[in-house]
Parts: sequence; C-alpha cells; structure tokens
Amino acid sequence: MKLIKTLALGAGLSGLLLSAAYAEGLQGKVIGFSQIGSESGWRAAETSVTKAVAAELGIDLKFADAQQKQENQIKAIRGFIAQGVDAILVAPVVATGWEEVLTEAKEANIPVVLLDRGIEGPEDLYLTSVASDQVKEGRVAGEWLVGAVGDKQCNVVELQGTVGSSPAINRKQGFEEALAGKANLVLTRSQTGDFTRSKGKEVMEGFIKAEDGGKNICAVYAHNDDMAVGAIQAIKDAGLKPGTDILVVSIDAVPDIFAAMVAGEANATVELTPNMAGPAFAALDAYLNAGTVPEKFIITESKLYTPADDPQGEYDRRKGLGY
Ligand code: AHR
Repeated sequence: MKLIKTLALGAGLSGLLLSAAYAEGLQGKVIGFSQIGSESGWRAAETSVTKAVAAELGIDLKFADAQQKQENQIKAIRGFIAQGVDAILVAPVVATGWEEVLTEAKEANIPVVLLDRGIEGPEDLYLTSVASDQVKEGRVAGEWLVGAVGDKQCNVVELQGTVGSSPAINRKQGFEEALAGKANLVLTRSQTGDFTRSKGKEVMEGFIKAEDGGKNICAVYAHNDDMAVGAIQAIKDAGLKPGTDILVVSIDAVPDIFAAMVAGEANATVELTPNMAGPAFAALDAYLNAGTVPEKFIITESKLYTPADDPQGEYDRRKGLGY
C-alpha cells in the first residue's frame, strides 16, 4: 500500500483510498482498462497513476487506448471479456451507447467499474462508478466567477468538453446553475474544444475575433485546464492579458494551470484527482475477495484553487504524477 498512500497524499487528495477496507489483495488478478486516449494532461496522469497503482498491487493490467473512439472502447471491452479477465475498468468517452457491451460483461460475470465519467443506462450494468460530482465542479467554478465579478457587467465565453461526454454535459449544467439569476453575468458564446489544448486555443481565437478583438469578453470558463491553457495563449496572441483583461476559470488542477497562476494568467481551477484507480481497486478487492458490494457512486472531491493557494507549491506537488 505504500505507493498508493504516496500518490494519494502527494496529490493532496482526500484519503478516500486510505479509508477503504482491503480484503486479500489483487495480486495476480487480470484487469482490463479501456482508457479514452490522451487528450489532456489530466488524462495522461490518470493513466500513469492507474498503471503505477496496478503495478504496486501486483495486478496484471491490460491497457487499451481507444484514441477518443467509443467503437474502440467497445472492441477492447469485448476483447477483455473473451480473455476472461477478472474485472474491467472503463472511462467512457461519451455517456450513451453502452448497454449492449456492458450487458455482455454482466452475462460473463465480469464486474465493470466506471472511471471518471458516467453513462446513461441501467445502474446494474456496472459495479460502481468512481468519479467527481461534475455538476458540482461546474457550480464551484461558476460561484467563484460570480464572487470575483461582483456587480460588474460580464460577458462569459465557454469552452465545452467532448460533445456527449458526461463532464461536458454536467459541468455546463453546474456552471449555468451558479450564474442563474445573475443578470450581470451573461454566457454569450459556448462551443466544444474537445478537452484539448489545441482546440481550446482555436475556439478561443474565434471567440476573440467575433467579440471585437476580445474587448467584449470578461471571462472564459473552460471545462478543463488544457483548453484554458490554449485559451490563455489565444488571449496573449490577441494582445490582451489573460487573468486580468479576461478572467480564466477551469477544472482539473493540472500543473500547467498552476504555472499559469504563478504567471498571473489564470484565476481559478477546480481539482479533479487523477487517482480514480485507487478507490476502484479497493472496491474490486473487497468485492472479488469478500463479496462486499461497494457504494454505486464513489465521489471524489472538488476543491477550488486560486492564486491564494500557493500555486508554486501545488505545481511542485503534482509535477511528478505523470501529467
Ligand atoms: O472525464 C474527466 C475529464 O476528461 C477531465 O476533466 C479532462 O481533462 C479529461 O479529458
């Protein structure tokens, strides 16, 4: 358990894993992991942490990178079922379209754990879901902006995550809930940046062009830090100051957003732990070895960070975690 503790504490995490009850361990178990791809720094860290925790626990992890395609995830899951793995982890790229393949896993008696994104469909198709409360993440980001802006008139632009993914749907909803009834805060433009830095930059360039060179934009809300970092570059290229002329608020808490805070170019982020695997493996251990059925939803923390929260220290604490 040493490495897991180090990872959990090193990332400033909740201790969710540390409080989990362990049964006999997962040594020698074969677990398939269908990962979405590597669209963001956060995703890279989740992959690194999952591999590191699996290695520490002696799990034979079968890793499949779906390169952002649901069809590749479905193929990988079918492959894991054919191999007769002990369990499957899946980070679902989009929320719909999982019933058939997860029914096949269920019929093969292979427990499935959802990592970091949710699905629409019957809850009995998966053992548990380890994820943040994504509506809350959006709300925390929105509430920060409401407080930062006060009574000032503020036009906000939004960079959404991957279309049809649960974080894109829920983070939008939560943010809009926070802005509801605030007549001075208006969401003027919203478009997907697909959770990538390059698309975030490209879409922000379009927003700036359409909004009088950025003069009509007071804040950008990005569904992840990578898109925010892309937007920051677009703002600088337009001759404006990110963090001052245009406020920047986003989600993930990756090292690069803390570097941007140190430079005065980002204003707030909401942390998403990359350690989804720790709680997932703890739940699988208890289930496979002792028959203990976990909570259906294991919710990770959503802590707000601003430049007042030692961004240099947060950068240093995270930079070794595979982001
Ligand atoms: O599902 C979690 C989201 O997916 C992260 O916030 C984003 O960076 C990633 O691509």
